[in-house]
Amino acid sequence: MSESKIVKLVDESSNRSSELPLISGTLGPACIDIGTLYKDTGHFTYDPGYGSTASTKSAITYIDGDEGVLLYRGYPIEQLAQQSSFLEVSYLLLNGELPNKAQFEGFEHDITHHTMMHEAQKNFFHGFHHDAHPMAMLAAAVASLSAFYHDDLNVDDPADRKLAAIRLIAKMPTIAAACYRYSIGWPMRYPRNNLEYVDRFLHMMFEVPSEPLQMNPVAAKALDLLFILHADHEQNASTSTVRLVGSTGANPYASIAAGITALWGPAHGGANEAVLKQLKEIGTPDKVETAVKRAKDKNDSFRLMGFGHRVYKNFDPRAKIIREMCHKVLAELGVNDPLLDVAMKLEEAALKDDYFVERKLYPNVDFYSGIIYKALGIPTEMFTVMFAIARTSGWIAHWIEQHETPGSRIGRPRQIYTGADVRDYVPTAKR
Ligand code: SDX
Repeated sequence: MSESKIVKLVDESSNRSSELPLISGTLGPACIDIGTLYKDTGHFTYDPGYGSTASTKSAITYIDGDEGVLLYRGYPIEQLAQQSSFLEVSYLLLNGELPNKAQFEGFEHDITHHTMMHEAQKNFFHGFHHDAHPMAMLAAAVASLSAFYHDDLNVDDPADRKLAAIRLIAKMPTIAAACYRYSIGWPMRYPRNNLEYVDRFLHMMFEVPSEPLQMNPVAAKALDLLFILHADHEQNASTSTVRLVGSTGANPYASIAAGITALWGPAHGGANEAVLKQLKEIGTPDKVETAVKRAKDKNDSFRLMGFGHRVYKNFDPRAKIIREMCHKVLAELGVNDPLLDVAMKLEEAALKDDYFVERKLYPNVDFYSGIIYKALGIPTEMFTVMFAIARTSGWIAHWIEQHETPGSRIGRPRQIYTGADVRDYVPTAKR
């Protein structure tokens, strides 16, 4: 990282100026360090959606939105998708390097032996109606971990931070499966330590009390790959939420629970559920043109869910991989889902339409993922829960990086005040 050039900013109305360092990282655009701007000029900057604002330095993930590049600790997502596993990628995100055999075995052992949740935690589920949305249950259950692991937790102790990471990555599938089992009225299953991470999750999701579950290697491989693709993505809304909550010194479980609630929104991780509902609403390929027309109509709030991205102004590299996976996994599972035809027709129509081309709107990670989840038997309401399981590794890696960074401060943005000017109180009788 280098600081060399200076950007001089002059306010001609007051003739005050500021000389601001230009900071460059390993890759990507240089950033103007505006730390002294208010002191020098009396002005704030204004960037409500943070479209031009870097909130932190990070060594975890790099995205080049114009080129459609995604790197986890420098490794291209395409190579990790082909050669790695979700647990190995989680180790990479947390530690910065790929593990050797002994390191991976140690990590896998730690994860495997932290998969159970406290028996008392199961009581939380019984407070929900059976039709409660699983993201609401997941957020509450993960936040409740901060009640079980708070007193002896020291966020300034690296060992405590590592243990929190292990517990969260290990328990998320157990809690997620419990949300699903509660919603269908089935008994919760204990994690089986003799199964690998994704198989263990599928077992807790689908094993019925009356017969052993036939494990499906195609399903496990597909889900492991989807988890790799969803594991991290730089300073997206939910990761930024985790960092902002973490910057106050809050408990890591509470910080991750905040990330879960941010992810739930349909503009973010909730889009995968919204895509499936939208494809069902469109119904058949011949109705696609109408949907594209509605998506372009400024008087219609309808948007093509799974399309567009704040950073990618090219194909989301994850969407490309998932689209190829769709055909392969559905064929291997012997599933013929007409919604895939609708999705492909929608993509084709949008990518030929000037509205989408001019705005560089391409399919994002959420556009095809739901079709695979559906083929794996995962209900639509659980799609964003899948996203949360995977993104937990990225979230906690960012939370740890933040706590390892010397001089980290509480996040506290300013504002442009547009309310009433100062005025005196008016007694009721005079209002
Ligand atoms: C994720 O940040 C991350 O990295 C997120 C994520 C991750 O891994 O963490 O990648 C995961 O959240 C992916 C995004 C999932 N969301 C959706 O698929 C919802 C549908 N997409 C949009 O709502 C939208 O594209 C966003 C929210 C993703 C991005 O919003 P921006 O960057 O604020 O873009 P914008 O709203 O300013 O749109 C720019 C223009 C506007 O038109 P004009 O005002 O210029 O005329 O594009 C239009 C928008 O109306 N537009 C769309 C559209 N997305 C943007 N028009 C129709 N359909 C869409 N999907």
